[in-house]
Amino acid sequence: MNICLANGRVLPVEMHQVKIVQKKSLTPVDQRLTAMEEAGYNTFGLRTRDIFMDMLTDSGTNAMSDNQLAAMMVSDDAYAGSESFYKLKDSVQAVFGFAHVLPVHQGRAAEHLISKVFIKPTDVVPMNYHFTTTKAHFEMDGAKVLEICIDEAFNTQSTNPFKGNMDLEKFEETIRTYGPDRISFVRMEATTNLIGGQPFSLGNLKAIKEIASNHGILLVVDGSLISENAYLIKQREKAYHDVSIQDIISEICSLSDIFYLSGRKSCSVRGGFIATNDKNIHTRIMPLLPLFEGFLTYGGMSTKEIEAMAVGIREMTDVDVAGCSVELIRYFAERLIENGVPVVTPPGGLACHVDAMRFVPHIRQTSYPAGALAAAVYLCSGIRSMERGTVSMDRDEHGNDVPSDLELARLAVPRRIYSISHIEYAVDRLTWLFEHRDLIQGLEFIEEPSVLRFFLGKLQPLDNWGENLVRAFKETFGSEC
Ligand code: F0G
Repeated sequence: MNICLANGRVLPVEMHQVKIVQKKSLTPVDQRLTAMEEAGYNTFGLRTRDIFMDMLTDSGTNAMSDNQLAAMMVSDDAYAGSESFYKLKDSVQAVFGFAHVLPVHQGRAAEHLISKVFIKPTDVVPMNYHFTTTKAHFEMDGAKVLEICIDEAFNTQSTNPFKGNMDLEKFEETIRTYGPDRISFVRMEATTNLIGGQPFSLGNLKAIKEIASNHGILLVVDGSLISENAYLIKQREKAYHDVSIQDIISEICSLSDIFYLSGRKSCSVRGGFIATNDKNIHTRIMPLLPLFEGFLTYGGMSTKEIEAMAVGIREMTDVDVAGCSVELIRYFAERLIENGVPVVTPPGGLACHVDAMRFVPHIRQTSYPAGALAAAVYLCSGIRSMERGTVSMDRDEHGNDVPSDLELARLAVPRRIYSISHIEYAVDRLTWLFEHRDLIQGLEFIEEPSVLRFFLGKLQPLDNWGENLVRAFKETFGSEC
């Protein structure tokens, strides 16, 4: 909840208290350099023991509530007909309004099944923006992903409240160009991950639904961060200021023909599902569930996680839960902006996104500025962030790098994990790094998988810049931290 201090600053105050903690330590800078070298300058390669603050992702890393943990204790492990599943079904019906639900082990499994059923080779899939696993699945099944977001989506210094909106004219143009039969469906992602956690508005979603329905095109909503998107709608879309998070979520879902999510985000568990009110759609996807995931009443999830998900779904409608990361992200971004550090504006959900194109403009995209920045952030702070730029794009069919629209180092803010002192520490080290940005140089691949290379690829720093950065760090802070 935002509380205005006597000095005028708006402080995001947590509406929860800490009950269980995980011990952390700050590995000294020389050890961080060794860890980064062993990780191949890819933050995915780091081990928890070498990480002080893990801001890689909010996926599966949110702090769970006492009620979620309690629910896990009473899970029913029946292979078929598990009572835990029926609790999940009730929550999905109550909060999202869907009669049919298919649990899956995580979000990309939902994408896999949807892709298998709805995508034909030579199809196109228009969307407000792609997510890495979404694009990989749809392309593997032969479709082309069309990003038809508003132009403003790529302006990292914007004041547009809904950079996750789809451009309606581009959508109509897409339908004219390809014809409705070649469009598998239109997909909207609730807070577009790769362009800075930017929300869409309900006004935009309604307009898309209308156009899609007029042409018999299905609307698929990826609701992985639906409660954060709902919170941002409540804050930023005038007609919804006085509408509850529950009612905003209901309205988003009522427009969706197919709704899926990674349960690792807004639900604060590890799992996912596909939901719909269309019996025919449900019947088409259902046979794939036992084949790829597990029986219909667990779908690859542990029943403990299913119980926790049933509770997490209801809890995400609480405005303090929906808003706690969003407000900490806003605070984080505002503090960095005060210090001149370039971040994506307006701040959205998921993370504080540092704009590598403006942070290290001397690094060309072929030398991976966001990857280099993420490595540098770790070296000078022990904070693990994630590259969201050209490393996260796979090469084209000719083997060329595909330059990403944006180059971002994403510092995720998982729910209820970090306090203001952590954020202040991050702000301090990022500010120091910005003042020493000339020391950061590019990266080059030494091991490169062909699909989703950002997960497992290994890189090395050009001209050993990591060592130079660490030397400068020690001159300012010494070698103990
Ligand atoms: N859709 C969105 C919008 C996501 O952000 C993610 C995952 C997925 C689908 C895939 O779900 O990981 O459960 O299989 N995002 C994670 C992240 C990986 O770090 O942002 P998953």
